[in-house]
Order: sequence, then structure tokens, then C-alpha cells
Amino acid sequence: MADQHPEIADLLSEHRRFDPPAAFAAAATITDPGLYARGAEDPEAFWASQAGELEWYTPWTRVLDWAPPHAKWFTGGTLNASVNCVDRHVRGPRRNKAALIWEGEPGDRRTLTYFDLYRQVSQFANVLTRLGVRRGDRVALYMPLIPELAIAMLACARIGAVHSVVFGGFSAESLRDRINDAQATLLVTADGGWRRGAVVPLKQMADEALREAPSIKNVVIVQRLQGSPVPVPLQEGRDHWWHRLMMDAPLTCDPERMDAEDMLFILYTSGTTGKPKGIVHTTGGYLTQVAATTRWVFDLKEDDVYWCTADIGWVTGHSYLVYGPLANGATVVMYEGAPDWPARDRVWEVIERYGVTILYTAPTAIRAFMRWGTEWPGKRDLTSLRLLGSVGEPINPEAWVWYHRFIGGERCPIVDTWWQTETGGMMIAPLPGLTRTKPGSATRPLPGISAEIRRDDGTDIPVGGGLLALTRPWPSMLRGIYGDMDRYVKTYWSRWTPDIYFTGDGAKRDADGFFWVLGRVDDVLNVAGHRIGTMEVESALVDHPQVAESAVVGRPHEIKGQALCAFVTVKEGVHTSDVLAAELKDHVAKKIGAIAKPDDIIFAADLPKTRSGKIMRRLLRDIAEGKALGDTTTLADPGVVARLKDQYQGTE
Ligand code: WTA
Repeated sequence: MADQHPEIADLLSEHRRFDPPAAFAAAATITDPGLYARGAEDPEAFWASQAGELEWYTPWTRVLDWAPPHAKWFTGGTLNASVNCVDRHVRGPRRNKAALIWEGEPGDRRTLTYFDLYRQVSQFANVLTRLGVRRGDRVALYMPLIPELAIAMLACARIGAVHSVVFGGFSAESLRDRINDAQATLLVTADGGWRRGAVVPLKQMADEALREAPSIKNVVIVQRLQGSPVPVPLQEGRDHWWHRLMMDAPLTCDPERMDAEDMLFILYTSGTTGKPKGIVHTTGGYLTQVAATTRWVFDLKEDDVYWCTADIGWVTGHSYLVYGPLANGATVVMYEGAPDWPARDRVWEVIERYGVTILYTAPTAIRAFMRWGTEWPGKRDLTSLRLLGSVGEPINPEAWVWYHRFIGGERCPIVDTWWQTETGGMMIAPLPGLTRTKPGSATRPLPGISAEIRRDDGTDIPVGGGLLALTRPWPSMLRGIYGDMDRYVKTYWSRWTPDIYFTGDGAKRDADGFFWVLGRVDDVLNVAGHRIGTMEVESALVDHPQVAESAVVGRPHEIKGQALCAFVTVKEGVHTSDVLAAELKDHVAKKIGAIAKPDDIIFAADLPKTRSGKIMRRLLRDIAEGKALGDTTTLADPGVVARLKDQYQGTE
């Protein structure tokens, strides 16, 4: 792609380093490199000082209880996340500051001040209580990107209920499975949302899910579509309109005093089996790390206008659209829809309209912007921007440099932030006033965080490539997989010793100690910044009556990072065709959601297997990537691969 942009070629040389721009560094919040030393010398004292920035009812008695692989942070301490994100700001000069500046895809706009947020969070907390939700109960949220989603999360936090947000792009079946796994008792949804000018019929999908989700006693529905043609039948006694309930909800609600280790939320993410994992996060440590990293890495200032483009359905939206920025009293921009609707300058239009100063987005979006061309950002005033962020997948140096030059006008530092649903908050990222960056590297572990590159045998690789490991507990670490502690121990803490966390990522460290995260080494793919388990897609395919077997692998994709390539063998007598391929893609979308739709379906008479019957994915990957074939000697039938290869190349 670089040759499309001759202007960036000179910035792309392999040894190019980017110092923090002088004007930025001069005003940066963190300019003391001693932070790293303090984090390393006494991580507990260091994190305790960060926790001290929050408001606690009672202080903790111990910073860390570590019985590997189980950690408790700030034990004995009590606090409430909604108080930290809302109440403490309304007591001071931020009372009337914009908390959320929201824009709907059709162009409707709303601004909620911290006081507005305080009011609505308190009222909705009362609504939940009146509907019987109690401390510790699970509440499922299946909503468009509208302020009510953040309000519902904070309302749960206020009464000590555990929220489980399910991304609005997931299918009815995915929603059903997540509700059932968590045994949620209440669902908040909306009549629908907008995406590329079309209605996403959330309530319809929710109704379908609820046919087999008996734990749900009540459904609250936000009226988002107002006057749109989608019918919203209400089930008597179960379904309630949000606005009706809010009308007579009491205005104030005493927050629950939560233990630092009480569960704040569950968020499902894909793993290496067919079943998504409910990642559990708790209150005190999570809030400490997301609040601190928001301040450090985004250099957040009182008058910033901060925009994270992620949907709240993903962890990035939880940590850096809701909890991190609101805990710091920031002004947060929230945009509901697609970046190219109605035109390809929508993102730049939003930045211009609100004077966005900090933009946090994903490499896949940046690559799409590159493809669309510089005339789109060129039409808009982007001079308000002062810092750019990236998250979700490795950023290729071309995209980094394009972002720097055409969006940041060469004056904005770029923070490439590595972390995961499981880590809760950022782990490897630059401090923008201090760190000299290299395009493509997330730089170094943040202060208080310890990471290593390890060999399979557990030895450390000071310089070179291997597996990325986290070698000390951190405050916002996951506390478990909901209902499945064994899987927690096995997945994350059993690769080496039980005190070392295995990330599932491959990475290398260079001679300057910089980390370069290369991508997943397990059966998880990263498609357009979304984690997708190959096993989940395979189970969805095999669920189709005409499919006998399938194997899903990733192949490089210019915009999405990775694309999904599905090898499928059909049952005897089934005729393969383009029509069947399209049907299978739709079947996966129906089972999981459109994000998991395979890009390619390759019908294969046989899949390459070892003599013991294991599918050889490495070979399939090689075929999908168009690589020369590696060793095929262990194959039961080496001819299978050659035939598949010819066939696949014929499809391109
Ligand atoms: C990948 C998203 C390289 C990585 C916050 C990780 C990254 C997975 C980066 C987690 C980055 C995320 N550079 N790779 N800056 N950020 N990843 O749980 O493979 O949706 O394991 O969390 O995304 O994805 P998740």
C-alpha cells in the first residue's frame, strides 16, 4: 500500500524513530521517566498510589493477595464505580461539563452533562431495583451505541449488579448463549439501532433469543427508532419501555458500597474452543488501572474532547469509552454508526464538529481510511487533534505513518496500545510525552507492568521472538472465567508456572527493549480488530445440515488484517455451488453474527489430516496464504493438499 502514498515513503525507513513532538512534550502530564523505576521497584506501592486517586468509602488493608493464579487487589477496600465516574464530578466544577457528546448515525445529537448523567444513572438504578434486580445479579445489555448503554452500565454498578454487554452485531443465538451462561435476570435492549442507513432490529433478535433464555424476567426497551416501521410487540408483564419507567423513577439512589473484589462486569470473548469465555472483572483494581492508564497514555487534560471509536460491546468501549474517561471527568464523544455513512468523511466531520483532541481507533479503520484516500480527511479541519491512539491488532508501519502524516499533521504522538479483554486495561504502550516511538511497536510495558518474551520451555528471550508473557499480577487483570475456574487456570496460567500469564500472542523484543506484538499463536483470529475463534466458526458451519466437516484458518487481508477462510467438506451426495457457499456464509452470520462471516468458502473433497486424524491447519493456512507448502510427510494422503492448492488458486 505504501507506494500509493509516495509522501510517506521517506517517513517509513526502517530506522525511523519519532520523538514526542516538542510542543506536546512541553505540556505533557507525564515527563518523569522515574515512573518506570517506581513501578518496577515496588509495584504494590506504585499501584496503591494510583488507587488513591479514586474515591473509596473505606481504604484497603492489603494491596495485593497473590495466591497464583488467583489475585485480589485492594482487599478490604470499598468503593462504587458509578460514584467514581459520576457523583464525585457533580460535586465540583465539572457539574455542568459535557460528559457525553453523542451523535446518532442519522445525524441526531445529544449532549449529557455530568449532572444529567448523575440524574439518569440514579433514576435507572432505581428502575432496576424496582424490577427486582439485586446486588450480584447479572443484567444483560444488548444495545446500540447510545448514551443509555453507558447509563445502564453505571446504573448496574451503582446497585452492585453485574453487567454483561453483548455487542449489538451478535446474533440472537449468541445473545441467548451469553444470557444463559451468566443466568442474567434482566435484559436492556432497544427497538433498534442504525448501521449504514439500515435498522438493526435489536428487539426482534432479543425476542428470538428469549425464547430459550428463561432466566430473564424483565426486558427494558429504549425507544431509539421513533416512528420507524419496525414493529415492537411488547410482551405483557415482561417488556417495559425505558422512558415510561424513567418517568416515575425516584431521582436519587444511594450507591452500594462494593468490595474492591466484587464483580463489576462479565464480558464474553472468543477463545480456542467453540464456547466463548465470560471474562470476569472486579471493581477496585479494574477502575484503578483503567483510570490511571487513561491519564498517562492519553495525556488527558481537563479540556480535552476525547473520542474512542470502539463499540461499548467490546472491552475497548468498556475501559476507554466508559470507565477510564468518566472516572477522570473527561468529555467523551460517542458516535453510533458507520465511519462511511453517509459519506467517507463522517469520522473527520465528527472531529471537526466537536473539536476532538484525542482520537482512539483501530488499525483496520486506519487502513480503510487509507484506501478511501486523503481527500476525505483533507476536506475537514483536523487541527484540534493533539494525540492519536491505536488498539486491537498490530498496526503496520504504513498505516502508522499515514495516520501520523495525514490525520495527525505530524504534530500528534501516536500511542499504539497493546492489551486484551483479559487484561482489562492497557499493558504495553508509550507514554506520549516521554517515549520515542517506532511505527509498529507498542513500545514498552507501562509502569507497574512486567512482560517478557519466553520460549516454550519458559526461558526468557531478552532479544528476539517468542511468546508474550505477563510476569507479575496487575490490578485490572481478569479474576476468572465466569462459572469455569478450571478453564481460567488452564487457558492462561498453565503454559509455564501458575504465576505467569500466557497472552496467546507471539511477539519479539528488540535490542532497545521494545515489544513488537505479531499476532495470535492460538486458534483465535483477529478480523477487523475483532477476536474470532476458529472453532466457533467451525461449529457454526458443521451445524448446517449439508456440511460434514470444516476447518477455518486466517489469511492476511489488506484492510481487515486477517480474513476468514473456511475449508468445507459436504455430506455425501450434496452438490456444491456458489449458492451453497453463500448460504453457508449466511448460516454463520445467523449463528454468530455478521462479523464472523467467512470471506472464502473452499469446498474440499477431503481435509488434510495426520495419520491420527488431526486436521493439519498449518497446511491449510499455507494454502490460504498462497505459500509454498511445508512438510507434508506426516499426512495420511499427501495428494489431498496438492488438489486443494490447485483448487484454491483457481478460485482467486
Ligand atoms: C490483539 C482488544 C498488536 C492481540 C483491546 C490481543 C494487539 C488481542 C494490539 C486482544 C496492539 C490488541 N498491537 N496486537 N496494539 N491490541 N491486539 O481481547 O492479539 O479484543 O491478544 O482486546 O488483540 O483482543 P481483545
